[in-house]
Amino acid sequence: MKLPTTLPAWPQLQALAAGPTPHLRELLTDPHRAQRLSLSAAGITLDASRQRTTPAIQQALLALAEQSDLAAQRDAMFRGDAINATEGRPVLHVALRGDPLHAGPWGPTVQSDVHRELARVCDFARDLNAGAVLGFAGDAITDVVNIGIGGSDLGPRMANDALAHLSDPAVPGTRVHYVSNPDAWALWSVLRGLDAKRTLLVVSSKTFTTQETLTNAASAQRWLTDNGCPPQDLSKHLVAITASPAQAARLGYPSERTFLFWDWVGGRYSVWSALGLPLAIAIGPENFRAFLAGAREMDQHFCTAPLAQNLPVQLALAGIWNRNFLQLPTHLIVPYASRLLRFTPFVQQMDMESSGKRTHTDGNPATVDTGPIVWGGLGIDGQHAYFQLIHQGMHTVPVDFIGVQNEDTPLPLAATHHGVVNLNLRAQAQAMACGRSLQDTQAVLEKDGMSTADAAAMAPHRSFEGNIPSNVLWLDRLDPQRLGALIALYEHKVFTQAAIWRINAYDQWGVELGKTMAKAMEQRAV
Ligand code: F6P
Repeated sequence: MKLPTTLPAWPQLQALAAGPTPHLRELLTDPHRAQRLSLSAAGITLDASRQRTTPAIQQALLALAEQSDLAAQRDAMFRGDAINATEGRPVLHVALRGDPLHAGPWGPTVQSDVHRELARVCDFARDLNAGAVLGFAGDAITDVVNIGIGGSDLGPRMANDALAHLSDPAVPGTRVHYVSNPDAWALWSVLRGLDAKRTLLVVSSKTFTTQETLTNAASAQRWLTDNGCPPQDLSKHLVAITASPAQAARLGYPSERTFLFWDWVGGRYSVWSALGLPLAIAIGPENFRAFLAGAREMDQHFCTAPLAQNLPVQLALAGIWNRNFLQLPTHLIVPYASRLLRFTPFVQQMDMESSGKRTHTDGNPATVDTGPIVWGGLGIDGQHAYFQLIHQGMHTVPVDFIGVQNEDTPLPLAATHHGVVNLNLRAQAQAMACGRSLQDTQAVLEKDGMSTADAAAMAPHRSFEGNIPSNVLWLDRLDPQRLGALIALYEHKVFTQAAIWRINAYDQWGVELGKTMAKAMEQRAV
């Protein structure tokens, strides 16, 4: 196994990091830099000109990717090799969004399983939206409550928010609600507004053993029977989505209402599977298929574009430069579109559960820093909260700004709103990169009428170090295709970093100890 530190590019990058690199303020004076460091795929453009990299650093990072046998590792994933070695499983979420007409390298069995289940999901979503799924009293279902946590919640909920505009408020469609936390209030705050006769529970759990989800599911079933549902009709109100159908059957979920995925789909990579049913209901099956097609477009780009023009690879290499060579331990993701409110928590799980590892795939302790702390939220709101620390605090925090170029909210002043939002995105990225030196600050204050002495006293408080690295990602619009592509972009970024670090991004043993202890405590309490 080629550990990253044994590759020729690693010490080269260390030497480059130790040497002088011009401030971003200087790097950005190159009029061609933005154009040279921008690349596009699947309706998404990355402007990486505000990374603290020179052409020598960019070359060395590309060499690192090549020396890591990235292409071979990528092909092994797409082929279905058991790259998740600690669980002995392939990692094939890419097959879930494969071309329906042509089997990919994963072969015909996976292909037919995937498309059979996808057809079942789309048919059910269509029937439900057409009023053909009936509750115990013969009423059409109007409300769907998805009960799941982690990967069985974050993906569909995030995409549902992002694409909510696709359900037309003038046409009363199905409402989809999400409950993840086992706190009683979380469930009650949803159920209290619903009519049991018209409510469908979708219990989403890969393992169907997750305590939080099973607690909520049992409680919601009790609410149904307390509100008139005869116990023998409960199954009319239940759907299971799982990779453990036997476990779901044991708990009384009928097989004709059980939608399947497989152990080769990680929970945090499962939004493309039957787990996307609540999303398919919310936005309609055609839009759900468009969402898959957008991800497929990014997959194709990832597999075919040269490393230098490869969007996920470039995002990953910037991450590695910041994490391993500039020693920056956190990573901030700030979407400038309120429909992407839940995008950061979604990526947070995908990235931190995948890359939060301290063991190489061969079982030896990690010799390099691995996944950063991923955090953030809506950019505009962040500006009025924690951006102070980013601009003037003691931590350098690399940032991903995510913006949307074309917006079509049907509000008379929508263009004005959009202008304000995108202007702020651009200004923040530039302010973080360039900062404002002490001398410039002093000059600005004096120009504003302050005395030289007062300006000198004030300037340290009002100057900005800058040199904060960022990516700017522009979606040309926020639609199902672009959202699918954006998620796939981050998935492949995480894959690429893990491939270079030589860690397994697809297990999550770190979450087990606490679960085992909770179980042991529960048993002791009985
Ligand atoms: O505890 C973490 C985790 O296992 C995640 O990996 C997963 O997405 C989540 O719990 C939910 O698991 P399940 O889908 O099996 O209920």
